[in-house]
Amino acid sequence: MVASMASMATRFRTRAMVNLCYLAVVFCAFLVPSFAELQRIEHPTKSDASLSFLVVGDWGRKGFYNQSEVAFQMGRIGEKLDIDFVISTGDNFYDNGLEGVYDPAFRESFTNIYTAKSLQKQWYSVLGNHDYRGDAEAQLSPILRRIDKRWLCLRSFVLKTEKVEFFFVDTTPFVDKYFTEPDYTYDWRGVEPRKTYLANLLKDLDTALKKSTAKWKIVVGHHAIRSVGHHGDTPELIKFLLPILKANNVDLYINGHDHCLEHIASLDSSIQFLTSGAGSKAWRGDLKLHDNHAVKFVYDGQGFMSVKMTENSALIAFYDVAGKVLHKWKISKQLHSAI
Ligand SMILES: *[C@@H]1O[C@H](CO)[C@@H](O)[C@H](O)[C@H]1NC(C)=O
Repeated sequence: MVASMASMATRFRTRAMVNLCYLAVVFCAFLVPSFAELQRIEHPTKSDASLSFLVVGDWGRKGFYNQSEVAFQMGRIGEKLDIDFVISTGDNFYDNGLEGVYDPAFRESFTNIYTAKSLQKQWYSVLGNHDYRGDAEAQLSPILRRIDKRWLCLRSFVLKTEKVEFFFVDTTPFVDKYFTEPDYTYDWRGVEPRKTYLANLLKDLDTALKKSTAKWKIVVGHHAIRSVGHHGDTPELIKFLLPILKANNVDLYINGHDHCLEHIASLDSSIQFLTSGAGSKAWRGDLKLHDNHAVKFVYDGQGFMSVKMTENSALIAFYDVAGKVLHKWKISKQLHSAI
């Protein structure tokens, strides 16, 4: 009697375990889709089919370190170029991202700083490593979009305009050292398990790039692939991201992270690497110039970048804190012949 009750209990336990495992599998299949399409957003194109935007990165310091001065000049240039939107390359809020959706830093570093009329456009943002040190999910929250309707930050997504497609990539999870650094904690909710997250992201990006019929393809991330600034190249991105960009004829890779302005040409593809990470505190005098890069321009002070695109050309310009043009670069593309 005792023995049979014990065996019944064991059988019951086994069945319960099997059921639990089954449930867990079903649950996980829902939570972690093997790979899906990147979220797509469409931005309407002006009647003359041109597209202009500003790029700023590494900015949120409540106006300090010339953030307000850079913002003022962005307003002026934004007006001149009749910009369609602004791109933020991440490190949106220093030092440790936002504490939550109601963190006053959101207004103090964003709403109350970028007040110019021309900057009252949609902002498209990615997360930087500093954003991951706070409540990363807060920046992705629709609540922030209600507090300031200009705000839109997602991890990875596609932004489609008539002639140009932008692919925003969440680069922080690629960087090994953030997973081992003892001094900082990162908010990896939604990222772990890391391997699956990165594999899916690369696959989704490759799929989206392959599917794209846009004449111009621009990839935006926080970390540099190529940089001669303080942080330099990001080896994880050279290894995993760059081959996908090369295989899919990406025109521009735009990033922040290094607090400077840079234009580096690729030595073995047509990709131009553009750093705009000078929205507030700059790293003056911290450059590592070495000769295995085709450095077209580098400036270690504060500033931002503008891009004006027509069907056949892209005009890139970098500005300092006084709004002075420091560097200009034009890329032309031939019209595809009908033959
Ligand atoms: C702000 O910019 C000015 C140049 O207009 C520069 O002299 C000054 O050092 C900058 N301030 C900071 C805190 O970076």
